Amino acid sequence: MSRAREPHPTPNRPTVTLPTPAAIGDAGRLLRAGRLVAFPTETVYGLGANALSATAVQRIFRAKGRPRSDPLIVHLASAEDLPRVARSTPAAARHLAAAHWPGPLTLVLPRAEAVPAIVSAGRETIAVRVPAHPVALALLAAAGRPIAAPSANRHGHVSPTRAIHVAEDLGDGVDLILDGGPTELGIESTVLDLTADPPEILRPGGVTFEMLRLSLPNVVQRALAFQDARSPGTAMRHYAPRARVLLFSDGVEGWARALATARDLVGRSESIAVLGPARLIDAAPRGAVALSWGSDDAEIARSLFALLRQADSEGVGSIVAVLPPSGGLRDAVRDRLTRAANGQVIASDLP
Ligand code: TXA
Ligand code: MG
Repeated sequence: MSRAREPHPTPNRPTVTLPTPAAIGDAGRLLRAGRLVAFPTETVYGLGANALSATAVQRIFRAKGRPRSDPLIVHLASAEDLPRVARSTPAAARHLAAAHWPGPLTLVLPRAEAVPAIVSAGRETIAVRVPAHPVALALLAAAGRPIAAPSANRHGHVSPTRAIHVAEDLGDGVDLILDGGPTELGIESTVLDLTADPPEILRPGGVTFEMLRLSLPNVVQRALAFQDARSPGTAMRHYAPRARVLLFSDGVEGWARALATARDLVGRSESIAVLGPARLIDAAPRGAVALSWGSDDAEIARSLFALLRQADSEGVGSIVAVLPPSGGLRDAVRDRLTRAANGQVIASDLP
């Protein structure tokens, strides 16, 4: 039935393909030709372009609607390629790379001259990591050069953890999407600034503060409210679904207020979703869309972004959510949820 339509590919439909060796070869050629390829990593899907070409990188900013003031992460096939993008590699970087790469740790280092300034939004630094995903690594090998790749979502929207999320957000703004299935970790890499003294976590992520402290005892993690312009991508109003996010603290008071709010909204016939652990969802009023994020930290991180997108596809007006307690991978979840709620946490028990 759809056969008659095939000669006229619908605009806004990007090419999505399984990551066969042939497809990865094609994708590598596209990247070398300055085009955009979306690919899976262990964290979220990235929107890749040749990091050594200013024209190619410009396309990333255009496709995402991302301000030119927000720097990108460069992806490498191996830590051995670091000198291609970093002017110098301090001992701490070598140790951390040995311990965590391939993996969800991004290091901010002095930028090498070969990397066009647009990649790091004019900064003298460069953010870099080696992703732990076989498709990403095969693609980096096929491209044969460093690949700049932000998360493959429309700017400000929820990061993509599936190929379909990329297609929905970017349409034919991307030349090819490699579909590697749902991503394993589901939340972005930790961004660690090694040019700061002491070294500073600019964005909590897959490698936790507790893990970093083992090899870097003086590492600091800023409180959310103090995030500044050094890592613009961490600005408020990020990771935001269309629905309004009403976020409550993880204390007894927060849960009670979250449930009271949910009951009140349902009572006023508003369409809402409730997001949190199963124990919260069980107590939520009937009629609310249940977004249960599972029981262990890995499951919470893995499901968070897909659940926020699900709320939008169900068309709810508000999402009532609670924060998980702090610590470990939950710090990254707290960070993303707080930004989705534009920095507002209701009934915070903190003094
Ligand atoms: O897991 C990830 O990191 C994913 C996958 C695709 O690798 N990428 C990702 O990129 O999340 P993006 O562009 O969505 O987030 C990059 C973050 C932003 O917060 C940005 O401000 C920060 O890294 N960043 C990039 N370069 C920086 C630099 N030179 N100095 C400080 N922060 C930087
Ligand atoms: Mg992003």
